[in-house]
Formats: sequence, C-alpha cells, structure tokens
Amino acid sequence: MANKGPFYISTPIYYPSDNLHIGHAYCSVAADTMNRFKKLEGYDTFFLTGTDEHGQKIERKAAAKGVTPQAYVDEIVAGIKDLWQLMDVAYDDFIRTSDDRHVKGVQKIFRRLFEQGDIYKGSYEGWYCTPCESFFTELQLKDGNCPDCGRPVEKTCEEAYFFKLSKYQDWLIDYIESHPDFIQPASRKNEMINNFLKPGLQDLCVSRTSIKWGVPVDFDEKHTVYVWIDALTNYITALGYESADDSLYQKFWPADIHLVGKEIIRFHTIIWPIILKALDLPLPKQVFGHGWLVLDGQKMSKSLGNVVDPVVLAGRYGSDAIRYFLMREMPFGSDGQFSYEALLNRINADLANDLGNLVSRTVAMVEKYFDGEVQPHGEWQETDTALIQLAEATSGKVKAHMDGLQFSLALQDIWHLIGESNRYIDLNSPWVLIKTDDGKERLKTVMYVLCECIRIIGILISPTMPRTPARIWEQLGLKDESITTWESAATFGLLPAGTKVAKGDALFPRIDVKKELADIVPEPPKAAPAPKKKEEKKPEKKKEEEPQGPISIDDFAKVQLRVARILTAEKVEGSDKLLHFSVKLTDSEPVRSVVSGIAKFYTPEEMVGKQVVLVSNLKPAKLRGILSEGMILCASDADDKVLKLCTVEPGMEDGAYIR
Ligand code: MSP
Repeated sequence: MANKGPFYISTPIYYPSDNLHIGHAYCSVAADTMNRFKKLEGYDTFFLTGTDEHGQKIERKAAAKGVTPQAYVDEIVAGIKDLWQLMDVAYDDFIRTSDDRHVKGVQKIFRRLFEQGDIYKGSYEGWYCTPCESFFTELQLKDGNCPDCGRPVEKTCEEAYFFKLSKYQDWLIDYIESHPDFIQPASRKNEMINNFLKPGLQDLCVSRTSIKWGVPVDFDEKHTVYVWIDALTNYITALGYESADDSLYQKFWPADIHLVGKEIIRFHTIIWPIILKALDLPLPKQVFGHGWLVLDGQKMSKSLGNVVDPVVLAGRYGSDAIRYFLMREMPFGSDGQFSYEALLNRINADLANDLGNLVSRTVAMVEKYFDGEVQPHGEWQETDTALIQLAEATSGKVKAHMDGLQFSLALQDIWHLIGESNRYIDLNSPWVLIKTDDGKERLKTVMYVLCECIRIIGILISPTMPRTPARIWEQLGLKDESITTWESAATFGLLPAGTKVAKGDALFPRIDVKKELADIVPEPPKAAPAPKKKEEKKPEKKKEEEPQGPISIDDFAKVQLRVARILTAEKVEGSDKLLHFSVKLTDSEPVRSVVSGIAKFYTPEEMVGKQVVLVSNLKPAKLRGILSEGMILCASDADDKVLKLCTVEPGMEDGAYIR
C-alpha cells in the first residue's frame, strides 16, 4: 500500500481527574476513530494525547493528601492511561506537562517570546493572604477572607508576565478569513471573529509567582508559567520541537487536526495561533470544535454529580458498542444527549439485530446449505448488481464523511449497506431456493454476495469498532490480510471460493432493556419534581416586587454583579423562551451554566461572545431540569414586549465586578 504521507491528530490534554467520564472519552474515541481511519487509508499517522497537570488546584489537592504534586498526578495519570486502553484509544504518544521534555520546551519558548519583546513584565491584581503566602481572586475568598485559614486578606498586586495578544489581532483576522478550513465547524469561525477578535484582544497574563507547581520561568525563577503557554505548546513539545531530536516535529508539524471541545476552541484558535505566529511557525491545518455530551440537558461534570462512567459501560457492553454509540448517536460538532435507553436500544437494534444477525444468519446458512464452504458465484442478476454497486460505492461515501469528521453520517451509510444486505436475504429467500436444484445453484451466488458484503462491512466499521472485525473474519474464515485493506473495500469479489466459515458466538448479545435499565440507571436525586412550565408563566407583578426602599448600601452590597462572557448558547428543548448558556467569568473560575428567558429577543448565535451583566451570587436553581448558576440582567418595558441586555462598554475584562 502506497504511503499517503504524514497525518497528525491530537486531543486536548486532560486535567488529571480520577474520574474521567464518558464525555472525556467522547473526544478521545473520536480522535482515535479518525486516526485509525487515516492509518487504514495508508497515512503515516501520529496521534497525541496527554495530561495538563500544573496549577494551584493540583498543588492543593496533593497537599491535602500529604503527597507531592508529582506523586499525586502520577497515580491519576496511570488511571487515565488504563481508561484509554480499555476504550482502545491507541495513541502514539502521551505527553504530560510535568515531563521534562515538555518543561524544557516551554522554557525555551517563553524565553524566546520574552527576548523578542512579545512577553513583558506587568502586574496582576488579586487578594493576598500573608500567613499563607497565597493570592486569591475575589471569588475564591470565603466571606471576604482567606479560603484556607479564614484570616483577612489584602488587596494587592502580583508581578506577572503578559503576552502581547493585541499585537497580532489584525493578522489573525486575515488568517482566519483566508483559511476557511482552519476553524471547523464553520459556524464557529464567525463567533471567533465577531465576538472575540473584532472587539479587541487584551494581553494575556502568562505567569504567576503564587503558584509553585508549574514550569519555572528559567530567567526569573520566582515565576511559573501560567496556563495557556504551558498547555497549548504540548502539541509541539511532544514532537521534540527545539530539542536535540526534532525529527517528529519535522515530519508531522503542522498538525492536521486539533480536536477540542467547543468551550476551548477559543484558546486554540486565538491564543495558540498567536503563539505560533510569534514563534514564526506554521499553524495547525484545522481546529475542530466538537459539542458536549449532556445528561438531562447539562454538561456532564463531577461537580454536578451527573457523570456516566465509561469503565462501567465498557465492562458491561464492550468497548466497541460504546464507541459505536458515541460516534453514531449525535452529529459531531453539536451537543448530544446521553441516555442509557438510547445506548441499549442502539446496541439491540443496530448491533445485535442489524449487524449481528446479518453475520450469524449468513454464516449459519453457508454451514447448513454448503457444508460451511463459500461456493463460486454464478452470473450476477439484477438484485445482485444493485447490492454489489452499493457495497462498492459505500467506502467512497464513508471517506467523504470521515474527512469532514462526520462520524455519524459515515456510520449511517455503513448501516444502509447492512440493512440492504439483510433485505437481500429476505428478497432471495434462501430457504425456498434450497428446495430445487436450480435454486441451490442460484443460492451459491446469493451466499457469495452476502459473504462479500460482510467482508466489506467489516473493513468499513474497523476505525470505529476496532475489535469486531477480527471476530467477523474468524466466522467468515477470512485469513488473507490483503483483502481487509481499505482499497479492497471498494472492490467486490475478492473473497476466494472455498473459504471455510465457522459459526461463533453472537457478536452482540441482545439486552433485556427493562431489566438492564433497572440495574444500571442511578436513582434520580430525591428532589421535589419541578412544576411543569412554571418558569414560562408570566409572573404577575406582586406588591412586594414594587421597588422597596430606600435600601442601605449594605443591602445592595449583598448582590454580586459581574461581567460575564457568553461562551456557548443553545435553545432549551421544548421551550420558546429559554436559552441555555455557558458563561465565563475569569479564566481561573469554572465555566457556569446559566438559563435565561430571552429566547424571544435574542438568537443563540447573536449571544455567543457577548459580555453580559450576571448576578453571580444567586442561589443556583434548575429551570426545565437545567442548572442555572446566575441571572443575566436585562431591561424590559412595562409589557415585556421590548427587552434589551444590560452590558458594559467595550474594554472591560471578563469577570470584572460591577459596583
Ligand atoms: N486541560 C484543558 C485543555 C488544554 S488543551 C491544550 C481541558 N481539559 S479537560 O479535561 O477539562 O477537558 C478535556 C476535553 O474533554 C475538552 O475538549 C472537553 O471539551 C472534553 N469534555 C469534557 N466534558 C465533556 C463532555 N461532557 N462532552 C464532550 N466533551 C467533553 O479543557
């Protein structure tokens, strides 16, 4: 097979967490599927994943456990590697930001950016606890005091280095406009340009003196590199950029695809290109932002307690079934709802019935009618030609979808071929044909066509379901690897007559869905059921809602108002009033989920990137089952016919306090 050249794909590097959930696995399985597909096509592939290990959170967790940060992350990383093995995520390299090779690379990059004037020294405002020698952001404080020791804190400035993002803003706009494939799906491109780049970039804080667990700035050792220069550069330090052996860098950079979740596409299409440009390096060919796997309308997260454990699922149903479900169920790029019921139904319908039965019926019939031996075929008839043409054309369609990372569409096309093969059995009724001599002769061709379709199907599913093809080959008696190549999937008639089939276990045993659901689905938390549609009823203006006052400044101070940036926006299913947002305050705070009743006045697209005013210390509530951690302020007229967002003038940083 001719070498088609290098192909480099990466996942983001994961924060070390001892329970990575099915949402994390989604990203890695997608990258692995794509990588396997390119390898099958004949590319010389490189697949990178890893862990993003530095920072105060890890420092603190390790201290609480009484171990060093390194020992703390070592244990977690071992668990993450086990998970990828279980899910058949076959990476070529696993980069850890605590690896010496990475640390050295980051130091060189930081120094170079400083020496050429792209990084400069400034100061960063925060709250300082003298006894603890620690800085905190306003939100980290507990009742205005140090969250660790409870003592008063002082407002102070921390010396920090900043990276000149602003200098490269116009260049980046031109680059993105002239490289339409760079940001995918294309809808995210306008988001980046209109909502982040055009309003103006602020220089980025890239070092801290208060965090010890990080890459030391080698020319100013009281600083450690803060977040993005450490994290994003993994994509080149793993290739040996600027090291004694940079052969992988020479071969594989620029990357073909950085696969990332939608909430971090901004960092990969704004900060990362600017770092590369400043280093005079080429940009990755594509950054693809996929959607989130959501459970009950919310992004899965440990803090919300709604995570689904891939280890449990793979243990019960096998990793191929889980991989198939993840890649098939939702269009890549959009959010997708995870449900146990949908998973079990797909296993039964698509895997046990459609694929499993096609293989078991075909093999059983070759055994029963021809003593287990595939017979030479006769002249093709019309029904044969229709299926043969479909089988030969499917690999081309699959390739087109895979190249656009449309896994779900690729699988739909493969399952169309599976469906047509099953229909072909019924159309030809082998059990009738076998009754006459002419019929038996014709049946040889029918069985041959089916065995060939199964061979082709086995090849086509292999990137998504790496374990199943070997089990199919075993039942089909297929030993010659030259007829399981990607090219061979476009040619019908390669399976030699005389091949001996052998019936095996069902590929995917059927599941009793009711019983299984009772067994596996966690009990919902015992909360009073939310009254339906309550949030959509127009509230009557009660007396108490009329402005009360005057209020004291202390009363007003209870309300925390902050500038928040909308990262993502979506309609809430079944509601014409609600939009669901993920909003960002500062980089160091978790992204929040906020639901707001403004869908009649603003589309999700126009909201993304806007700065809004958020009541940020409101008690979290659930609207339509979706967590809302704050309220977006708007002005509305007396009849609620006109509604406008409250916002701040351009130039204010995200997370700023309004007072
Ligand atoms: N460490 C950063 C990335 C730095 S890359 C230079 C990070 N880590 S993470 O562990 O929080 O997330 C890793 C990936 O998992 C992200 O792409 C994120 O979108 C993805 N997912 C986490 N939860 C997810 C879902 N529920 N659904 C789909 N993907 C999800 O961000």
